[in-house]
Amino acid sequence: MRFEIACTSCMTEYDRDSPAFRCESCGSLLEVVYDYGTLELPPGFDKRRITQAKYQPFFPAKLASMNEGGTRLVRLKSRLEGGARVHLKLESENPNKSFKDRGSSVEIGRAKELGFKEVCCASTGNMGLSIARYAKVARIRCTVFISKDANKEKLGKIKKAGARLVLVNGDFNKAITAAEAFAVKRKIFLCGDYHYRKEGQKGVMFEILEQFRYRVPDYVFVPVGNATLLAAAYKALHEFRGLGAIHAYPKLVAVQSKECAPFVDSWRGKRRIEYVKPKTHADAIAVGFPTFGLEARSGIEHTEGTAVSVSDNEIEAARAALWKAGIGAEPGGAAAFAGFLSMSKKRRSDFKGRDVVVIVSGNNEREPLGIAAKHK
Ligand code: F0G
Repeated sequence: MRFEIACTSCMTEYDRDSPAFRCESCGSLLEVVYDYGTLELPPGFDKRRITQAKYQPFFPAKLASMNEGGTRLVRLKSRLEGGARVHLKLESENPNKSFKDRGSSVEIGRAKELGFKEVCCASTGNMGLSIARYAKVARIRCTVFISKDANKEKLGKIKKAGARLVLVNGDFNKAITAAEAFAVKRKIFLCGDYHYRKEGQKGVMFEILEQFRYRVPDYVFVPVGNATLLAAAYKALHEFRGLGAIHAYPKLVAVQSKECAPFVDSWRGKRRIEYVKPKTHADAIAVGFPTFGLEARSGIEHTEGTAVSVSDNEIEAARAALWKAGIGAEPGGAAAFAGFLSMSKKRRSDFKGRDVVVIVSGNNEREPLGIAAKHK
């Protein structure tokens, strides 16, 4: 599909091959803007196997593939459902155990198309690991900026994947500043929560809609760190609705840990999003200021959804319940399920007989269960 790059705020247009990752005039995020009239779906599209690659016509780069996507949507069968039909989207089944692979398939694909031999990114762990692995396959050098306090298991995996690690004395937002400066200085491709990654992450929602045979679920619970996944989920819904494939939206529900809830707090308090110091044990979503917060807010508004925060102990309880059902998830990966459990306890009648999709977003930590309780 033909596309352009434009600023989300001042509308400045960019050459589609521009390596810019923020607007050079006003500093806002950029957006991939498609000419939907040029969309061409290959013959037999509907019957093709559901994988990230199937949605190639909706992405702005030829995917760099590690066979991402095609993750299962499984019906939870336990007493926790509270009268709802709960469907878990197992993004932990991606090659590098998180939904991040979908964004990496677009970003590394785009970096290759633009001729870059080197990329860098900031991460809380999963994104860095995913980018490192995709870069390795594409023979692209990769540097990951990450907090020195990040999860040790993830640090080890990123190193093993062959990336250079730069340990930052500070949190994820400090790492973002460092990665952006490094990319500008070395004139390399910056991966991370920017416009190309958002495109790749639409694949999660495309698959959910297809797995529902274009019936629209009532709710989709989404974990929020930088809010890229939620912003991408909304864009995917908007695109499929524009095509006439669906005629309504599911309510998008953002979930954060109470120990790091800048997005949920601002939604609740109807005020600007403000930075908070992350204290959550759910390290994947320990993001003090969500880059895609405004886009995510618009997604919630347009779908009449909401936002909820849960304690680290609730996250750990949700993780334990998933384990009991045979589903592995790291704390950040179980956060959306914790959000559902918490909301459905308080508002049971809202969920009775409803189709609820919960994104289980990752599983890159083998930490024993119960650690959050100790951590408190
Ligand atoms: N779940 C997992 C497992 C994650 O790794 C992340 C983000 C999220 C949820 C939240 O997604 O940022 O799009 O709102 N992890 C990033 C990283 C920050 O660096 O791996 P988001």
